[in-house]
Amino acid sequence: MLVANRLDRAITSHWHGLHVPGWQDGGPQTLIAPGSRLDQTLEIEQPAGTYWYHSHPHGETGEQVYLGLAGMLLIEDAGSSHTELLPVEYGVDDIPLIVQDRAFTRRGELAYDDDGMALMQGFRGDKVVINGAISPKKHVPPGIVRLRLLNASNSRVYRFQFDDGYEFHKIAGDAGLLPAPVRMDVVELAPAERVEILVDFSDGRTRQLVSPDVPVSMMGGGMMGNGSMGRMMGQGASSDPDQMLLILTLEVDQAKKASKIALPTLFSQAPSPDFGEPVRRRKFQLNMMMGMGMMGAMLGGKADLGINGKTYDMGRIDETIRLGETEIWEISADMMAHPFHVHGTSFQVLSQNGRRVDYASTGLKDVVWVDGSAEILVRFNHPAGPDAPYMYHCHILEHEDAGMMGQFTVS
Ligand code: C2O
Ligand code: CU
Ligand code: CU
Repeated sequence: MLVANRLDRAITSHWHGLHVPGWQDGGPQTLIAPGSRLDQTLEIEQPAGTYWYHSHPHGETGEQVYLGLAGMLLIEDAGSSHTELLPVEYGVDDIPLIVQDRAFTRRGELAYDDDGMALMQGFRGDKVVINGAISPKKHVPPGIVRLRLLNASNSRVYRFQFDDGYEFHKIAGDAGLLPAPVRMDVVELAPAERVEILVDFSDGRTRQLVSPDVPVSMMGGGMMGNGSMGRMMGQGASSDPDQMLLILTLEVDQAKKASKIALPTLFSQAPSPDFGEPVRRRKFQLNMMMGMGMMGAMLGGKADLGINGKTYDMGRIDETIRLGETEIWEISADMMAHPFHVHGTSFQVLSQNGRRVDYASTGLKDVVWVDGSAEILVRFNHPAGPDAPYMYHCHILEHEDAGMMGQFTVS
């Protein structure tokens, strides 16, 4: 991979979801200076799937991703991607969809801010853009189509569904195929999560992919913008869950040749991955309430958020982890829900709020939605030294930039 920085500020190239060593991970320490280039050979040894990349300099990730430094990255593999069972024609019946929300100034320029309300709840735009276009239309063949959805928004959560309630099959999560397709009619994606779905268009009907305007989730089931919290904050979160956002229109083109694929029934005999026995537990508490955190944000200023009572510090290693050892991480959140992400590996979600999570419905992940608490089973098979450690953080990018991030070595 050759990354050339032609901008006037430092960037990084983080490969989100890839199992690469710390020095290739593109964390905040591995800056690519303006005018310089980074040429890397990544060794890929993980399941085929839908991954992504984005810039990750400390304090500027939100703005840089928002302004465009992000993209999708597909891993293919004849051995693990079941190419004979699935649509694989890129852009024809295998369609990448990068979903982001944006706000525009009157002159049509991107508007961004990460203070006050935008810091508290994460930045939210009022327009949804798909691969850079607002509510685009895509022609599809009259057969089974695979959509690869990436939520690359800074903070917004989507609940993707079809306008007519049409059912589809989820076949993959963040990091590769599920054991078998799962039928559903709504799929929720938090920031940085991915999902692959199969949709059968053989009935020739045009459909719209939509999502409600999902409010920010406050602890205890409250919603920012509708509940008392929103009223207290004055401006409200300007979300209306009854309003549907149009994501894109999928129109069947009978002239296009449909692939002969039928819905696959099984991808893997194994019901879940083999992580081995966990040898340790670690706890991570995501804090909104640190010091001036909440107050600072409400007063419209900058604020420090944190994990385990500490705001992110590039010079401090928060955890040291042993290569190849399996651990259980317990993540909990105060006040509002957060998408928690871990670099350098994929994990299994064991539980959310004490309820067991079925691997068959999630597959391997690298982001877990923490609306209260969650437990994950995790193991690292690549090293990360103190000069280029791995990160764990909230993937609401304004939270990450404000310090809801920690770093760790693996050796
Ligand atoms: Cu998607 Cu630390 O990043
Ligand atoms: Cu990442
Ligand atoms: Cu967060």
